[in-house]
Amino acid sequence: MDRFLIHGGVPLRGEVTISGAKNAVLPIMAAALLTEEPCVIRRVPDLSDVRFMGRILESLGASVTFEAGTLTIQARQIQGYGDYDLIRKMRGSICIMGPLLGRLHEAKVALPGGCAIGVRPIDLHLKGFRALGVNLDIAGGYVHATAARLAGTELFLGGRAGPTVLGTANLMMAATLADGITVIDSAACEPEVVDLADFLISMGAKISGAGSPRITVTGVKTLHGADHEVIPDRIEAATFAIAAVATNGEVTLQGARADHMQAVIDKLREAGALLERKGPALIARRGPSLRPVDVTTQPYAGFPTDVQAQIMVLMTIAPGTSIITERIFESRFMHAAELARLGADIAIEGPSAIVKGVPSLSGAEMMAGDLRASAALVIAGLAASGSTEILRVYHIDRGYENIDLKLRQLGARFERLKANPNAPENTGGE
Ligand code: EPU
Repeated sequence: MDRFLIHGGVPLRGEVTISGAKNAVLPIMAAALLTEEPCVIRRVPDLSDVRFMGRILESLGASVTFEAGTLTIQARQIQGYGDYDLIRKMRGSICIMGPLLGRLHEAKVALPGGCAIGVRPIDLHLKGFRALGVNLDIAGGYVHATAARLAGTELFLGGRAGPTVLGTANLMMAATLADGITVIDSAACEPEVVDLADFLISMGAKISGAGSPRITVTGVKTLHGADHEVIPDRIEAATFAIAAVATNGEVTLQGARADHMQAVIDKLREAGALLERKGPALIARRGPSLRPVDVTTQPYAGFPTDVQAQIMVLMTIAPGTSIITERIFESRFMHAAELARLGADIAIEGPSAIVKGVPSLSGAEMMAGDLRASAALVIAGLAASGSTEILRVYHIDRGYENIDLKLRQLGARFERLKANPNAPENTGGE
């Protein structure tokens, strides 16, 4: 497996172009299963998760081509059974279930197990499908879903930790081809849900309310092909903004959607960062001093769980004590123990991390445990003095396009040490 070698302490400076959003493109790719006509998806990041999803769609019978950031998917003739090994490996693949049920009234997928960030159940997805009239047969680690017809209904999708992002996506996709009207209450409001709704609308779906907690879908008979550009990745933009502040540099995030990042921008300003909108770009740098801030992760428009690890790194070097509380996933603090190797002072108390700022971090070897934790370790390595080595970097390739190139363009001394080409690579993801 590849490793990263970082010689830290260099302020990041310059311009970086934000790629398309991974968490928008995955459900949009699945949505292409809803029509037999070709769908063109633009500004697609070249990520292992995207290629993995492409292989899953191919295993269902779709044709998938990916060239220069543009995906063309045509699901002329598909089946409800894919390559189980592939489906089991990537949690995001659960969102093929909604479109398969909408189009074929049948889907068989592997039940996703837990992953590095927690248990991650799919009970809310299943509850929603049942309400649409789907029979679910769960056996041997698979769920086999069948329906004579999908019947529009009223659904409540709120769970213990609030709404579910992929659950909302799944139910919204299934409902586009259901009979009658489906109202989804406690729907996720994330920009990725809105982007999916925009894509579905351009395919001929009738959807209103996406971006609010109540989404209404009026079923139509068929959907057609569409051409869509994916929104920029707000999590990638937040990651680079924090890296700029943590290294005391200045980075212009070209194409960052500040309107999707208000909670992060607000917290970073409270922490002493300067963030300035300039046309279609956002400029991030540190102000005169860093300050500790308390952060609690929440569903959108609150502070995203996908940026919790990265802001924790910043707090490790902010003088004073900050409390970071994770409310979405129950075990998403694995990076804390790794950061301790660089000299960070972090104590975990239930869902909270108590971070006491230290004057500086110093490089060491660390192991990445999940995608966003890996991003956090990279930021820590960039901010630390001396050299840092990060193992298991395949996680980061799932969600950050050309991370090495982008960081080097910003002046980072950052190298990828290639693995033995014969060693097995893990490509599955959360
Ligand atoms: N939940 C349930 N039951 C369900 C579904 C979810 O209890 O049926 C719980 C989860 O356990 C969690 C909470 O609801 O406590 C929210 O989970 P959600 O379903 O919203 O997560 P997801 O849709 O599976 C997506 C992103 C994650 C991101 C979360 C939260 C994709 C492919 N994944 O996951 O992204 O953290 O929303 O915003 O869109 C990442 O990119 O690193 C990543 C993990």
